[in-house]
Amino acid sequence: MHITCVVGARPNFMKVAPILEASKRFPGITCRLIHTGQHYDERMSDLFFQELGLPDPDVYLGVGSGSHAVQTARVMLAFDEVLDKTPTDVVLVVGDVNSTLACSLVASKRNIRVAHVEAGLRSGDRRMPEEINRILTDQISDYLFTTERDAARNLEAEGIPACRIHFIGNVMIDTLLQHRDRALQRPILRDLGQKAGEYALCTLHRPSNVDTQEAAENTLTALEILAARFPVVLPLHPRTRSKLEQFGLLPRLERLTQVQRIEPQGYLDFLALMAQAHVAFTDSGGVQEETTALGIPCLTFRENTERPITVTEGSNQLLGLDPKNLERALDEMAAGNAKRGRIPELWDGKASERILTVLQHA
Ligand code: UD1
Ligand code: UDP
Repeated sequence: MHITCVVGARPNFMKVAPILEASKRFPGITCRLIHTGQHYDERMSDLFFQELGLPDPDVYLGVGSGSHAVQTARVMLAFDEVLDKTPTDVVLVVGDVNSTLACSLVASKRNIRVAHVEAGLRSGDRRMPEEINRILTDQISDYLFTTERDAARNLEAEGIPACRIHFIGNVMIDTLLQHRDRALQRPILRDLGQKAGEYALCTLHRPSNVDTQEAAENTLTALEILAARFPVVLPLHPRTRSKLEQFGLLPRLERLTQVQRIEPQGYLDFLALMAQAHVAFTDSGGVQEETTALGIPCLTFRENTERPITVTEGSNQLLGLDPKNLERALDEMAAGNAKRGRIPELWDGKASERILTVLQHA
């Protein structure tokens, strides 16, 4: 069986790496790697290839940034040509980014089977570009690999037959477990002058938090509240940096001397920062899951989450978008009520193997 694996944006690398690694133990399966180039900065892409031991992509599509339509269309055109030249049995996509939908659509129209890893997650909020990508990708996928049991309910409610759905666990946690010890050896806390358990780690990049002046100001208000309590480490996503610049808000951020603004981090340093944080403050999908796996309290600055298990079982708490809720949550934590949670079912480091076992018998 020949599988074409697709990566495009930062969180995709952590999801595909363990699948490629595990595929070496499945002699009947060969994998090829296509990078769409949705993310392209050294610190948003290449660094992850080095740290996660990903092979160089067999093909790099180089699509870059653009509107949703432009980016999605560019990936589709380029990926269609790839499939012209190299036939494949299965196209494997992960997550919910534009590259995920674009490649699954191209494959499906060519009657190539599509495997979607991280299927069935729903925020219920169609204003999120990712929600549209999730719904459409799942509709045209042949193998839907889920991270939590609720996902199957979401899929069945959308008419997807149960026989296509496979609850296999969380590939992102495969990567986390594989690299945690190595990450903890990194000198990043010393380099930043931070102490374990004493700082907040913050990542924010959702359009709903940064894309309008009002949303970006609200996000900064929350950061001010956080920074009044702890030193904050803030690896700044390129979208967030460019929006703050556009709205003239960088000086307001720079005035927060407790906030240490740093470049987007490589996986190992970021994992080290997460594993030793007092708390994470985020709107990232992946960070909600990783903090649950690490038992680090996570305060999510969003109105909804497509990953409810991180709240019902894990260490995540959904704050909504009112900065006052952050204040309350921090008071609760200070009173000794930090949420630690437990590790969800099958988040055990073996999800990639389960995926390949399903595909091997398909
Ligand atoms: C994308 C995904 C989002 C995911 C995030 C992970 C979609 C719709 N969104 O959002 O689900 O959570 O990646 O980080 O697919 N930029 C750079 N360098 C880069 C990449 C981007 O400077 O290497 C800047 C560009 O100004 C670009 C902007 O960031 O316009 C946004 O990039 P884009 O890939 O469109 O969306 P993200 O916000 O990164
Ligand atoms: N991450 C990283 N460096 C950073 C910020 C995040 O390596 O500076 C990792 C994080 O550990 C997780 C993934 O990137 O594995 C999450 O990506 P992101 O937040 O960009 O996207 P989302 O998960 O929200 O789609």
